[in-house]
Amino acid sequence: MHRLLERQIKRFFGDPAALPPEIAALAAAVDEAYAAADADRLMIERSLDLMSKELTETNNDLRRQLTERNQVEKLLLNEKEEQKALIKKLEDAHNQLLQSEKMASIGQLAAGVAHEINNPIGYVNSNLGTLRTYFDQLLTVLSTYETLESTCEPAKLAQISAVKKEMELEFLKEDILALLKESGEGIQRVKQIVQDLKDFSHVDEAEWQQADLHHGLDSTLNVVHNEIKYKADVVKEYGDIPRVECLPSQINQVFMNLLVNAAHAMDENKRGLITIRSGMTGDEVWVEIADDGKGIPPENLNRIFDPFFTTKPVGKGTGLGLSLSYGIIEKHHGRIEVHSEVGQGTTFRIWLSVGGPGVSTDQVQ
Ligand SMILES: Nc1ncnc2c1ncn2[C@@H]1O[C@H](COP(=O)(O)OP(=O)(O)OP(=O)(O)O)[C@@H](O)[C@H]1O
Ligand SMILES: [Mg+2]
Repeated sequence: MHRLLERQIKRFFGDPAALPPEIAALAAAVDEAYAAADADRLMIERSLDLMSKELTETNNDLRRQLTERNQVEKLLLNEKEEQKALIKKLEDAHNQLLQSEKMASIGQLAAGVAHEINNPIGYVNSNLGTLRTYFDQLLTVLSTYETLESTCEPAKLAQISAVKKEMELEFLKEDILALLKESGEGIQRVKQIVQDLKDFSHVDEAEWQQADLHHGLDSTLNVVHNEIKYKADVVKEYGDIPRVECLPSQINQVFMNLLVNAAHAMDENKRGLITIRSGMTGDEVWVEIADDGKGIPPENLNRIFDPFFTTKPVGKGTGLGLSLSYGIIEKHHGRIEVHSEVGQGTTFRIWLSVGGPGVSTDQVQ
């Protein structure tokens, strides 16, 4: 008999064996119902158990799938990042190539022009010298004539005086000398420009060498003089620095970019100031180009070295100057730092190791 039924019968009737027959029949029926209910419950419990197990398994499956999917997603993400980095590297390499080609051709052009100008300048200079000698000789002849003028008849003397006056002989004597002197100075200036162009492009010596950075700065300043002269004064505060192992023509490109940028940063209405400083810390040399121009807004500061980033109007800037400079300094294993405040000015500082980048595998590119 079912234990619950047994307990109730004991409670109400005492001994279950002493039940009256009709109650015993009822008890038997109830007992059967209890047993059936128990069996049903057991079955329900078992199927619930089964279902719960199945659910847990499905759940685990789903979890596993989710983890796998997450892993795949992570992998894909990593791959995407790697691809992005690779594309960036390729772009950089491509731009570097473009820029170095551009700069190499500018350098070659400059050197070519310098070479071509050198020849005519040479003979103009030498002719000017000869002209000066000839003119002195003519003056000697003239003064000999003049000493003999007193022996002339008065009519002839008057005729000579009239021609002298008409031709402004005294003025001519003075002015021809002045013209010759001025032309000589002009030629000297052109010679200096040609020399600067040559120094600047260094095409004949595109290899690592111990270079005087101050000399590079000076010749670059002469080359970009025109770009700066109407906008700013230049103050040099050169320190005592040794020669630096570098590719001078490329370092000059960096100086040029920084100087032109500084000139471009100047206010239209106010004459600016560009200060060039240099110095040494440890075995590193630094060169600083500081301007008191408009400055760089903080949100642009980490973009200025990106290729093609420019705030200049279309056609004015390519946005390659600083990215090229960055590449060149990187090739020298140096550093380029920038400090800028809007409305105050900008300072770029280049650090180069005196001994150069050490054993360079990527010598001249
Ligand atoms: N000294 C500076 N003062 C203010 N802004 C500057 C200075 N130097 C650089 N910049 C900012 O950085 C940007 C990028 O300079 P970068 O030299 O690379 O290109 P660019 O001068 O615009 O063009 P270019 O290729 O002709 O040099 C400039 O457009 C300018 O906004
Ligand atoms: Mg520039």
